[in-house]
Order: sequence, then C-alpha cells, then structure tokens
Amino acid sequence: MTDTTWDLQQHTPETLWALCCLNLTTAAQSARHPFHLITVATITANSTPSIRTVVLRTFDDAPPAIAFHTDSRSPKFQQLRERPDLSLHWYAPDLRVQLRAHARATLHQADPRATQSWEQSRVTSRACYTATDPPGTPIADFPPAPAIPLDDDKAGLVHFAVVNCRFTELEVLALHASGHQRVRLSLATSPPSWQILAP
Ligand SMILES: Cc1cc2nc3c(=O)[nH]c(=O)nc-3n(C[C@H](O)[C@H](O)[C@H](O)COP(=O)(O)O)c2cc1C
Repeated sequence: MTDTTWDLQQHTPETLWALCCLNLTTAAQSARHPFHLITVATITANSTPSIRTVVLRTFDDAPPAIAFHTDSRSPKFQQLRERPDLSLHWYAPDLRVQLRAHARATLHQADPRATQSWEQSRVTSRACYTATDPPGTPIADFPPAPAIPLDDDKAGLVHFAVVNCRFTELEVLALHASGHQRVRLSLATSPPSWQILAP
C-alpha cells in the first residue's frame, strides 16, 4: 500500500497533494490499493442522487482528473449525458482516510480515447460490454457469465465508454485519535492551497 504519512500536521498543501497523487496513481494500477474502488454519485432526471462503485482506471494530476469505464447503455451514463456533475468518494479503512471531490464528466464513446482505453483493457473486462441486455434491464433469470471475447473481437466496443472526471478541489479527512484533520485542497493554482475545516 502506498503510504507515507496522513498526519496532515506534517504537510504543506503541496506535499499533501503529492501524497494524494502518489496514492491515486498507485490505486489506478493496483486492485489491492484501497482507493482502487471509487463510489460515484450522479443526479437522476428526478434530481435524486444515485450512487455505485466503479473501478479507478486512470488518474491525471494536471489538470486533476480520474477516469472510469462503463457501458454507454447504463443509467449512470444516461444521467451524465443529461447532467455531467458527479461526486467522487474514496475511503481507505487501513489509512483511516476519506477523499471527496465534486467533478465534471466528459463522456467518451466511439472516439479515440474510448478506442485507446478499449485496446488497453483486459479481454475479461471487455466481456461485459457484449451483453445483449443493457445494464438494469429487468430479466427472468440470472444470466450466465458472458463469453470471454477473442483479443481482436471488437463486438463490445460500441457500448464501451470512458468517463473522464475533472475536479479542481479535493477534500481530505484523516482520522486520528489525537484529533481528526480535514482540509479542502484547492488545485486550480500552482502550488495548491488548502483551507482547514472543522472535522
Ligand atoms: C467492485 C465493483 C466494481 C465495479 N466496477 C464498475 C465499473 O468500473 N464500471 C461500471 O460501470 N460498473 C461497475 N460496477 C457495477 C456498478 O456498481 C453498478 O452496479 C452498475 O454499473 C450499474 O450502475 P447504474 O445502474 O448506476 O448505471 C462495479 C461494481 C462493483 C461491486
């Protein structure tokens, strides 16, 4: 696990952002990192929140952005088409650290970014995108696992989408017996600044 210290007293905004970058970069590459899974909230057409778990696929530090993959037929993708606002949330129990951000989504489907990500993805991951029934369709029985496609099979590509999520602030909450520490990092300027917040 990538860790130095999450005692925010020992950080400047710049070193804390560097620590976040290190962890998110590692998390995008390793399923064992606790930030590998993100909770993502979207807003439905009825203005109700809708949340789910997704896999962190990429992280960029400048401008700050993460990306996840999804099926373009899924409700979340349709919600983001209507309203590209989302909330991102991570919690690492071992580190006792929570990260939160408001982000704006850019949707990539049938474009160079989607094609490149498709080509870099595992065939086992591509299998989901070949399902006949769009995610969330009511069906009579549990379906069998989709067949693993051949390496050059692009059947699922039509449904494959990359959701790029840009953010300009990141809230960090570090739990400590000696006193919890919470800051809002502002990343629009270089070096970043922070506002300390009541936990
Ligand atoms: C551990 C885990 C990882 C998941 N990763 C993804 C993912 O990367 N992309 C995705 O679209 N759905 C992923 N899912 C499924 C979503 O949580 C969700 O059930 C599905 O995408 C339908 O969401 P929607 O109805 O809000 O569109 C994952 C679920 C779990 C439990």
